[in-house]
Amino acid sequence: MSGPYKAVKVTDNVYWVGAIDWGIRDFHGYLTERGTTYNAFLVMADKITLIDTVKPPFRQELLGRIASVVDPKAISYVVSNHAEMDHSGSLLEVIDLVQPEKVFASSMGSRALKDHFHLDRDIVAVKDGESLSLGNLSLTFLETRMLHWPDNMFSYLAEERLLFSQDAFGMHLATSERFADEVDVSVLEYEGAKYFANILLPMSPLVTKLLEKVGNLGIQIDIIACDHGPIWRKDLDRIIGWYGSWARQQPTMKAVVAFDTMWFSTAKMAEAIAEGLLAGGAQPKLMPLKSNHRSNIATEILDAGALLVGSPTLNNNMYPTVADLLTYLRGLKPQNLVATAFGSYGWSGEAVGQIRKALEAMKVEVVDDGLRVKFVPGDDALTQCFELGRQVAEKTKELCGRG
Ligand code: FEO
Repeated sequence: MSGPYKAVKVTDNVYWVGAIDWGIRDFHGYLTERGTTYNAFLVMADKITLIDTVKPPFRQELLGRIASVVDPKAISYVVSNHAEMDHSGSLLEVIDLVQPEKVFASSMGSRALKDHFHLDRDIVAVKDGESLSLGNLSLTFLETRMLHWPDNMFSYLAEERLLFSQDAFGMHLATSERFADEVDVSVLEYEGAKYFANILLPMSPLVTKLLEKVGNLGIQIDIIACDHGPIWRKDLDRIIGWYGSWARQQPTMKAVVAFDTMWFSTAKMAEAIAEGLLAGGAQPKLMPLKSNHRSNIATEILDAGALLVGSPTLNNNMYPTVADLLTYLRGLKPQNLVATAFGSYGWSGEAVGQIRKALEAMKVEVVDDGLRVKFVPGDDALTQCFELGRQVAEKTKELCGRG
């Protein structure tokens, strides 16, 4: 019995059988303001094949959607393109219920699934470029190691010109619409960029190589069936073009000013710096940490050319929110940025030096020693802030000119 859940036809032989998570807001530290989907696909070949599963709380939704097309026990093969739990979390239950003839994963995926589930059954490890006959249709596997886990792979259904792209080309976006051409383009661009900035950014060079590799394979792709958000069946150049540009991290004159403040002195500095940035030809974007989530700041940095981080000193340290942001950004390894630090202090003033060190560890281009102001900034200090902004704008212009 399928219950209320229905599959959505993608092609003559492929159905979307995933789940919509309208309520999720924290995806391991990433603010998913619009929820997400866990996409899984049913290939109605001679050997009926399930591509990926869903996060464990949604397994009934998955099984219900499958049952709206076919008895789940008729599934012969299960392909796990990625071992992360939002896609393989229901795998054990599916295997128990369906008893498929075979389960396939990449070589790293096969090991990862065994480590996750302590399985004693065999997971067939497929090789990069290997094909699997489903009878009347066939799948070809393409390893995409470290995009974004060691095990990730794509599966290509040649007869339908359909690429099951796993996390790639996806986004955290819960919608009633299943296809990207039914969704506002500005929403797709923002959520796609947010996903790239918060998940794939550290692997940008690998994304560039993968796009070249797929281009060189000479395969025709009419549909990209990703595992989060809407499916791409039109304007594929749009999402592929966005990926190419996000992976290049081409700097612009956008300058992100991220800061926290205790008694508004660091906030006053941020505003004066922003005026200087503007006067120098940059486009400042002030992002107080009291009202901006770390993942939204990471998204704005994706196409920025400058990052200015401000913090008061609290108990000889930078503010905890600023430390949180810098830890998060360090992992994401943003490139092509000039950077500096600023902050107000009372007596010891360690925060600016600590931020500077953190920026250096991120390997962005730290352009000066940073600016510290004792207690409340007066006119002279605000002029210094303005000048700092102007200088950073000049450095950002140089950076953009190098590209
Ligand atoms: Fe959507 Fe890497 O899991």
